[in-house]
Amino acid sequence: LAKVEVDLASIPEGKNVIIKWRGKPVFIRHRTAHEIEEARAVNIASLRDPQSDEDRVQRAEWLVMLGVCTHLGCVPIGESGDFGGWFCPCHGSHYDISGRIRKGPAPLNLEIPSYEFSSDESLTIG
Ligand code: FES
Repeated sequence: LAKVEVDLASIPEGKNVIIKWRGKPVFIRHRTAHEIEEARAVNIASLRDPQSDEDRVQRAEWLVMLGVCTHLGCVPIGESGDFGGWFCPCHGSHYDISGRIRKGPAPLNLEIPSYEFSSDESLTIG
């Protein structure tokens, strides 16, 4: 499937879902106001792969990214790690609540796939 449609109304605030797109996992998190604040409070200059949270999302409450660790491709685990985001158990990479690499061997932030909001309630990936 080249494109996948996701019903956002089924994802409550503070929850993650994982969908499959082109054989890869895509993580979608409905972020809380607190998480958005946390993601935006980070000093970008301190990051290994410097990127603002604003540049990683189209709508602040929806974080959409490939669930593929940028080290060697394992699938990170949600709601874990030292930075309130994802943790890759293969070699210990920690990603924050914007999916940015913060600690461990991965060189880059989790990749953002192309997507668009087809309506207020749905998102199309691809
Ligand atoms: Fe994720 Fe190595 S594959 S830390």
